[in-house]
Amino acid sequence: AQVTLDTIVSLCKRRGFVFQSSEVYGGLSSAWDYGPLGVELKNNIERFWWNEMVRKRRNIVGLDAAILMHPKVWEASGHVENFHDPLVDCKECKARFRADQIDLSAPCPECGAKDSFTEPRQFNLMFKTHLGPVEDESTVVYLRPETAQGIYVNYKNCLQSSRLKVPFGIAQVGKAFRNEIVTKNFIFRTCEFEQMEMQFFVHPSEDKKWFDYWKAERMEYYRKMGIRPEKLRFHQHGPDELAHYAKEAVDIQYEFPFGWRELEGVHNRTDYDLSRHSQFSGKDLSYFDDETRERYIPYIIETSAGLTRSVLMVLSDAYDEEELENGEKRTVLRFHPLIAPITVAVFPLMRRDGLDTYAQNLEEELRDHFNTFYDESGAIGRRYRRQDEVGTPYCITVDYQTLEDDTVTLRYRDSMEQVRVHRNEVVSAIQQAIRE
Ligand code: GAP
Repeated sequence: AQVTLDTIVSLCKRRGFVFQSSEVYGGLSSAWDYGPLGVELKNNIERFWWNEMVRKRRNIVGLDAAILMHPKVWEASGHVENFHDPLVDCKECKARFRADQIDLSAPCPECGAKDSFTEPRQFNLMFKTHLGPVEDESTVVYLRPETAQGIYVNYKNCLQSSRLKVPFGIAQVGKAFRNEIVTKNFIFRTCEFEQMEMQFFVHPSEDKKWFDYWKAERMEYYRKMGIRPEKLRFHQHGPDELAHYAKEAVDIQYEFPFGWRELEGVHNRTDYDLSRHSQFSGKDLSYFDDETRERYIPYIIETSAGLTRSVLMVLSDAYDEEELENGEKRTVLRFHPLIAPITVAVFPLMRRDGLDTYAQNLEEELRDHFNTFYDESGAIGRRYRRQDEVGTPYCITVDYQTLEDDTVTLRYRDSMEQVRVHRNEVVSAIQQAIRE
């Protein structure tokens, strides 16, 4: 059965993945906080992405640019002029909608009033603030609506300091902000979110080749992360869907509990961004190829994934309920072991006779290798269930036999199979299981 969003939201709150922002004050709409397990999951997804995109590739380097940038950046990028959504209000109930997402000739979906919509007006999605104590037009700065621009304005710095040659990429993970008119579906669309973006600089004649390459690589990445392939698909943008900077764009969509939605975009941004930054800054942002003696503005193929949106995707994908032979229901999050918030949980069978001290020592040893968790309370079956529900792939139990022969029980989350392993072999057994 398909999991509902409500089930995910309540599991997230109950088990410490995601809480509503400022909950004690009634919550702030559309902002969310990542709890003890949520932050581990988010960090693990980010690390997985970084390894796949940066560490494992010779021609991609990382960057961490500031959120606040010179205001000219957003004029050059086209965001001041183009980054808006059409907004309408209902004159009766004051509900707010995106004009392109409702039928303006129909009654208001909230209150049913007829002919009650205002004229659509353009609403810029960038958050504005002021740098310094004076609040006037000259001090306006924006919270970045995408991380990409930090890469474009640093492209020459990276090129010169890292001695890269086209084709090469620059990757970055960080917060982005959009004053979205409609935020719903939990952490799917929020005003503050995180992106994992990579900009790949290529010769203009090779844009199609690299676009196709990254389209395939990015889909492969989700498979590697253990995401169910039947829940992923491409959606090619038609001319009316293309962002202001894009020549070609494809979304990777995932089937969320509320339907197929965008998870990531792969865009051919052409030389749009670098040309515009050249023009607005007066700086030469062309690239000189030593071998061919050719000077040109590189084209950019962008892969832009939502990190916080990936957290929701991974939770929805991992969620499973199964009926056990004894009729009990088991809730299990089937996270890939590399992204599970806890990798190994260690339990003493009893809280006495030295079993607890043995288990604590073992857990401490395992901390050097994995993210661990120690639990000594409640029946052992319950402890297993609690770990299943947060997606811990491996549990270790220390029992009376352990005190005799130094073997422990290693229990696998998915198969619930239990094997006896010598204490000295626990690390390698788990490392091997992660690789499989
Ligand atoms: N630099 C290109 C760019 O920002 P985008 O399609 O607007 O492209 C890329 O955004 C990804 O960022 C989306 O696929 C989505 O995963 C994530 N994203 C965008 N807006 C979001 C929001 N309001 N809340 C959460 N994630 C968002």
